[in-house]
Amino acid sequence: MNGYTSRTYVRSCSSLSEDQPKDNSVSDMLVDSFGRLHTYLRISLTERCNLRCQYCMPEDGVELTPRPQLLTKAEILRVANLFVSGGVNKIRLTGGEPTVRKDIEDICLELSNLKGLRTLSMTTNGIALARKLPKLKECGLTSVNISLDTLIPAKFELLTRRRGHEKVMDSINAAIDLGFNPVKVNCVVMRGFNDDEICDFVELTREKPINIRFIEFMPFDGNVWNVKKLVPYTEMMDTVVKRFTSLKRLQDHPTDTAKNFTIDGHQGRVSFITSMTEHFCAGCNRLRLLADGNFKVCLFGPSEVSLRDPLRNGADDRELREIIGAAVKKKKASHAGMFDIAKTANRPMIHIGG
Ligand code: GTP
Ligand code: 5AD
Ligand code: SF4
Repeated sequence: MNGYTSRTYVRSCSSLSEDQPKDNSVSDMLVDSFGRLHTYLRISLTERCNLRCQYCMPEDGVELTPRPQLLTKAEILRVANLFVSGGVNKIRLTGGEPTVRKDIEDICLELSNLKGLRTLSMTTNGIALARKLPKLKECGLTSVNISLDTLIPAKFELLTRRRGHEKVMDSINAAIDLGFNPVKVNCVVMRGFNDDEICDFVELTREKPINIRFIEFMPFDGNVWNVKKLVPYTEMMDTVVKRFTSLKRLQDHPTDTAKNFTIDGHQGRVSFITSMTEHFCAGCNRLRLLADGNFKVCLFGPSEVSLRDPLRNGADDRELREIIGAAVKKKKASHAGMFDIAKTANRPMIHIGG
């Protein structure tokens, strides 16, 4: 346990709430030309992953950025501090797979100590999580989203090109046992692959306090997206409501990616992430820092600006804020629509981290 104790290290990320700061606590750097306040930063910690999911990367893998060109822990903290002091109150760690990074505990610990940060989350494939989660919780991690696209181990192997279904299930259970609530489970639905498992996933929410999130399949470079594989959320919902007739919509937060539902008698919840058929860009509060130090204002927008290069060339905080603010001001109202996205060069998902 390296001597960390929860008494010493669990601190300001005290709640699972997704509260917004008061408007006047957000610096102009984080406000775009449509008045959207960007209080949520997603940090990709690595381009490496211990799985090879088909929807995320090409079969041959992706070219990795040479290590010296990736942000160090100190650089990540410097940039994160700039964002949090500007009004960011939620950070999500992504990848690649964030748990493969050796200094993940230290990064969590130091990020969670940033004054003003309320939520420190991670999106993970769950392969190495069960083992690491107690320590990560001590280091200030407040919530986890775990990817799981099938309940059938053989299909898991087909999709991820690796073994590990049982480990992911163990991680989901470990997260529940450690009191993470909700534990969000991300399921990318692909026609002909796992759309026949939707109700089995929903069934899990009867006894487990988990939030199953069915995600529309999105196009990224190298993932062989095809509109025929996309299952629109209305169709997924029809499937669910036929069997779970008490499915009821909850009031969503304006910045939610998910449309959320309850089912009578179920401990958990069911959600749909409808990026393709009904985007939620009007409420977008997200910005992205990639592992190579590039800053990206929209998941689907190809434009990126390096924060690493000015940082390494001695830029001071004011100069970095100017670069960030200028990029945020150029953010578009919404993404271009699924067919244009499919045609536009973007990075593969493994580089962006969702
Ligand atoms: P919460 O912070 O718990 O709401 O999670 P999240 O939905 O923001 O993040 P997660 O990493 O769990 O991603 C779930 C799905 O939402 C993935 O398919 C992401 O690619 C997608 N997603 C996350 N952020 C955005 C975004 O800004 N725009 C769009 N269109 N999709 C997003
Ligand atoms: N479409 C939709 N969601 C995706 N994810 C990865 N690739 C895709 C895609 N092509 C999801 C993962 C993970 C989250 C960060 O994004 O399942 O949970
Ligand atoms: Fe925000 Fe871009 Fe996602 Fe729309 S597509 S919600 S603008 S990141």
